[in-house]
Amino acid sequence: MPRDRDKPLDVLSVADLCVDLVLTGDVVPRFGQAEQLVDDYHLELGGSATIFAGQLVKLGARAGILGSIGADLFGDFVAGRLAGLGVATERVVRAEGVRTGLGVALVKESEDRTMLTYAGTIDATAPEHLTHDLPSLARHWHISSFFLLSLLRPTWASWLRRCRQAGLTTSLDTNWDPAETWDGVHEILPLIDVFLPNATEACAIAGESDVELAGRTLAGFGCVVVVKQGADGATAFHENDMSSLDLSEEAPPPRIVDSIGAGDCFDAGFLRGWILGWGIEACLRLGHRCGRASLSEAGGFRGQLVEDVSGNTLQGVQMRRSR
Ligand SMILES: Nc1ncnc2c1ncn2[C@@H]1O[C@H](COP(=O)(O)OP(=O)(O)O)[C@@H](O)[C@H]1O
Ligand SMILES: [Mg+2]
Repeated sequence: MPRDRDKPLDVLSVADLCVDLVLTGDVVPRFGQAEQLVDDYHLELGGSATIFAGQLVKLGARAGILGSIGADLFGDFVAGRLAGLGVATERVVRAEGVRTGLGVALVKESEDRTMLTYAGTIDATAPEHLTHDLPSLARHWHISSFFLLSLLRPTWASWLRRCRQAGLTTSLDTNWDPAETWDGVHEILPLIDVFLPNATEACAIAGESDVELAGRTLAGFGCVVVVKQGADGATAFHENDMSSLDLSEEAPPPRIVDSIGAGDCFDAGFLRGWILGWGIEACLRLGHRCGRASLSEAGGFRGQLVEDVSGNTLQGVQMRRSR
């Protein structure tokens, strides 16, 4: 566990920064210059790492983001929203000649959605942004959206090694691979302390069709593997141990508006506990509470659990032996 409380940040996360414009309405886009009216819209901070960092701050952690925004209006919006959330933005850079990434979603009665994405700054962060002083800023390094950050992929192995040498712990949530090849994860897993895929991603990356087999296979790389399973909760695997969340002890979600960001909020909850030295089962419970809370409001931020758990260091429940 990291012990260095003198560092300015608990967690520094590399980010896929963008804005999301979400339109709501029961319409299907039509070409031929057809104009159709939608019911509503909102503009929101996009990207997986922003939701993760925002949730960490609400749990009392000091979280920062390393990423790129454009020198444009949407870039100002991203910087302003991150500052409003209390996320440290000193390492958010204005990329030259690249516009802020934009996702446009059309949501039809909250059941289905179609999305158009302009990548822009989502993938503008490059190896030169990983400067030598970064490991002295944080106790823990988190990679989210591994597959979207293509410029950084060749450097992760050497970078994670450097983080470890500097005493940082590390975590990874790859999220979905748009190419569906799932390449490059096995190479860095031995350098990751906590890996947090969802069930589909875990099976794809492990090359298994069964979640338990996938979890055990991935834990063979030496990390704690936490497989997120939607309404079925989550299961942690480490060495030969397996620990499942006991859902009979957890309240069901009061209402489900959408599941945007549930996985990122879960990651923040699990890692908040883990960094504080909690046992795996307590980490699973806080992760689940964060994931569940995020379901109750639209988007990834509004429903986030607000609870400063910083002083709570007595959650040390040992991992249950499964065999
Ligand atoms: N329908 C649900 N009921 C209760 N908890 C949920 C539900 N959906 C998600 N969660 C919680 O949020 C976590 C993350 O959601 P999941 O959809 O599995 O991740 P991801 O967003 O990465 O695909 C789950 O492991 C669970 O703890
Ligand atoms: Mg996810």
